Amino acid sequence: MKKRILSGMRPTGKLHLGHYFGALENWVKLQEDYDCFFEIADVQALTDNYDNPAKVRENVREVTMDYLAAGIDPKRATIFIQSMIPEIAELTVFYSNLVTVSRLYRNPTVKTEAKQKKALFGQDAEGITYGFLGYPVSQAADITAFKGEVIPVGEDQLPLIEQCREIVRKFNHIYGDTLVEPEALLSENTRIKGLDGNKMSKSLNNAIYLSDNEEAITKKIMGAVTDPSKLKKDDPANPEVCMVYSYQKLVNPEIDKVCSECKAGKRGCVGCKRELIQCMLDYLKPIQEKRKYYEEHPEIVDQILKEGTEKARKEAAHVTNEVKDHMLIHYFE
Ligand code: TRP
Ligand code: SF4
Repeated sequence: MKKRILSGMRPTGKLHLGHYFGALENWVKLQEDYDCFFEIADVQALTDNYDNPAKVRENVREVTMDYLAAGIDPKRATIFIQSMIPEIAELTVFYSNLVTVSRLYRNPTVKTEAKQKKALFGQDAEGITYGFLGYPVSQAADITAFKGEVIPVGEDQLPLIEQCREIVRKFNHIYGDTLVEPEALLSENTRIKGLDGNKMSKSLNNAIYLSDNEEAITKKIMGAVTDPSKLKKDDPANPEVCMVYSYQKLVNPEIDKVCSECKAGKRGCVGCKRELIQCMLDYLKPIQEKRKYYEEHPEIVDQILKEGTEKARKEAAHVTNEVKDHMLIHYFE
């Protein structure tokens, strides 16, 4: 039997190259050898977008199209919407007894995100909602509702997987062996920075989206940060400090040539950027063609989501019944 994979993303915007190289590309490969479930984590997206439900709703289909365009194959993998699986919410309630509030405050991912919120909205710890603080518990429910064994994620998610493992151990210890302890599987390219060298973010406009058109890609790459010590076209430079080079690595098959020419002062940054633009367009072409197909066939996207969600719901219901048996709260059919 194939091992079970569970992972997901929050539908808060279209997906960019950070999502692609940090996770999606890996998911696509994994569908060969694993039984894959990929979630559209809309409930989790609402934990910090509860006041903007329209944004989350819109992006459920956008993110699904990005999954499909990147190569997730609905015949092999199950794509589903979190909010349509009420069992996940049930499990979240049961698990909330197994986690202390202080442990949640100490979760490094929660801490980092809380700091970002503070920087953005001036909230301190007191301003954090119960739902946001508790989202690691809800994520543990996502994973265990499907007995996810392998969880392919980026580095930032490791503390959430660790917290899930703790919940599983505690559950199994108290109620008897029921849940599976998941393992994280890190992707290789987990830390891709934005074109300006900062963390990729929508507000900084420093990320390339899978759905960006030629004009947007050209503009973003032309504005990318290069080795600041290189002033003239034939100055030798250090590609390791250049954002253009770090993107060349991802999409340019002739990367060795880029590197040696840059070091030898045999390539200008403008030409180098033009070459990157072409490689990027070539790289994204098949993805964008697929995306276009789904954009033109929204009914197919809906059907994939509907079928995936039905299948996921059966799985989650099965596990939740087992959980309730073990917790002695299964009264009658
Ligand atoms: N927290 C993840 C993110 O922000 C999304 C996610 C939700 C997830 N549920 C999950 C990831 C379960 C792995 C497993 O990207
Ligand atoms: Fe970067 Fe290319 Fe300029 Fe070298 S030549 S600094 S790799 S943009």
